[in-house]
Amino acid sequence: MCGIVGYVGPQQAAPVLVEGLTRLEYRGYDSAGIAVANPRSTAHPSRVVRAKGRVRDLEAALPARLAGTAGIGHTRWATHGEPSERNAHPHTSFDGRVHVVHNGIIDNFATLRARLAADGVELASDTDTEVVAHLVARELAGQDGKGLGFEDAVRAAVAQVDGTYALAVLDAQAPDRVVVARNGSPLLLGVGDGEMFVASDAAAIVRHTSQVVLLDDGDFASVTADGFRTFTADEEHTARDAVTIDLTVEELELGGHAHFMHKEIHEQPESVERMLSGRLDDRFGTAKLDGLNLDPRAMRRFARVKILGCGSAYYVGQLGASMIEDLARIPADAEPASEFRYRNPIIEPSTLYVVVSQSGETADTLFAVREIQRKGGTVVGLVNAVGSSIAREVDGGIYLHAGPEVAVASTKALTHMSVGFALLALALGRVRDLSFADGTRIIAGLRAIPGQIAQVLADEEDLAAAARDLSAAASLFFVGRVRGYPVAREGAQKFKEITYRHAEAYPTSELKHGPLALISPELPTVAIVPDDDLLERNLTAAQEIRARGGSVVAITHPGVDLGDAATQRIEVPRNEVELDPILLTVPTQLLGYHAAVALGEDVDRPRNLAKSVTVE
Ligand code: AGP
Repeated sequence: MCGIVGYVGPQQAAPVLVEGLTRLEYRGYDSAGIAVANPRSTAHPSRVVRAKGRVRDLEAALPARLAGTAGIGHTRWATHGEPSERNAHPHTSFDGRVHVVHNGIIDNFATLRARLAADGVELASDTDTEVVAHLVARELAGQDGKGLGFEDAVRAAVAQVDGTYALAVLDAQAPDRVVVARNGSPLLLGVGDGEMFVASDAAAIVRHTSQVVLLDDGDFASVTADGFRTFTADEEHTARDAVTIDLTVEELELGGHAHFMHKEIHEQPESVERMLSGRLDDRFGTAKLDGLNLDPRAMRRFARVKILGCGSAYYVGQLGASMIEDLARIPADAEPASEFRYRNPIIEPSTLYVVVSQSGETADTLFAVREIQRKGGTVVGLVNAVGSSIAREVDGGIYLHAGPEVAVASTKALTHMSVGFALLALALGRVRDLSFADGTRIIAGLRAIPGQIAQVLADEEDLAAAARDLSAAASLFFVGRVRGYPVAREGAQKFKEITYRHAEAYPTSELKHGPLALISPELPTVAIVPDDDLLERNLTAAQEIRARGGSVVAITHPGVDLGDAATQRIEVPRNEVELDPILLTVPTQLLGYHAAVALGEDVDRPRNLAKSVTVE
């Protein structure tokens, strides 16, 4: 949610900031802006350029010369105030001296705005962020001309603020530095050679450095060209070391694909293979998951598993719960973290809590982690982003190693999550009742997955044709039963978020209890019909749809006789029954993708959405 970038060094800041923002655009893209400070200009010690729309609109608005070697930039996902130039960041103080970019939400902004307005400060935007610029400026000015220094002024302003924030602040009269603060929203520093960077996400600075300092909640940092200093709200110095991040510029490029979503779908065979390497233990028929920090005795003590995630991660969590019940025979269920955190959940020491997140920064999931830990629960994470807040706060976990995912609509990270759950279920099962033979069977199934995903992707042309047909419908159903139901939910989610078509998921078994009333030739159904013990029942339901004039696209296994229960057939290779849902999901990714392309939608940046939801 919102991207932040900052720079201090010998280069001109504006191009560095704009390039960084381009890489962060997936975090928010309704407006963008930069502020740069120029020590050589007394007439214009700092300048701000903002634009509604994309980073390319900001680029078009930039003057030919925008000199300055320190600056901050922002790409926005609106929370307070409509997307517009006046609400775009950076926000500037009443005296023009202070510029601020912010990710998060200032909870007490209304009180602060009212107080500032009562003191005669004219507010120039509808945002919660703007107050911070005024507060810093007031602390700098002080009373009777005795103002605070820049760093102290930021500390004093932040002390008046409640809420979550990653803040980067520029003072036109201290053009050699950027001061930042973090509480609940991601922020890191990039350490270059004689230059320093600030970013909400390493993607923004990877072109310049792979050395980053991950800030913690409560951290402040003062960043100059030759280094940084971190400190707390009480002005105590803290020691923060740089770590090397494993991210390359190539991973953030389209690499010949039309969209990042397409690239990420096609990366799956290789990325899943990489994720599995070193994690399958043939000798004991289990999974090696050292990062979980749970020895076999600890794993045996859990009587339940509770999985928490948001959106698509929650749907994969449902899939994970059925894998854990199937393989480990431990009662397991999944719940949206966004609901869990608000219902005063009962935390049991005998329950293993598992959070799942691509970004590792989803606010609802992070708060669920903290709530569980506050009440004494054990929580492990399935997380993709290395070093992210959730990854750092959980008691142990499994890194998904999917590599960066840029498209807002998640695909490969979700596949990695389901593979991660299969590994977890296998490890939990093998310290309980799962036999060595069954463990070995699951290992063989997992090893087959990369090649089988490649087989599904080889049928892309057929899937694209089916997607084009589906894109003509204003509304459609995705249905599946038991293990197929989370597949249907995720299929509908992918379709709706990038095509803006109404796609609704139902358990196939529930159709006759209501939704069948909607079936007509205008409302197609995508049905998950695996070759399992529910095949006959799934075929009967599909027949019921056909009998009412509805068309059915069946995602099924080779050899299944669909008869006239389906109007179109999409095949995925058969794996082990517990792992089949992983493969059954892959065609739904391409259905959503090609339908959105056929409709001419902006596949990678769907309206109203952002990649990681770091606000409530
Ligand atoms: C997926 O396509 C969605 N954009 C969204 O539901 C996402 O899965 C959800 O916001 C959770 O994100 P996370 O995995 O980064 O926590």
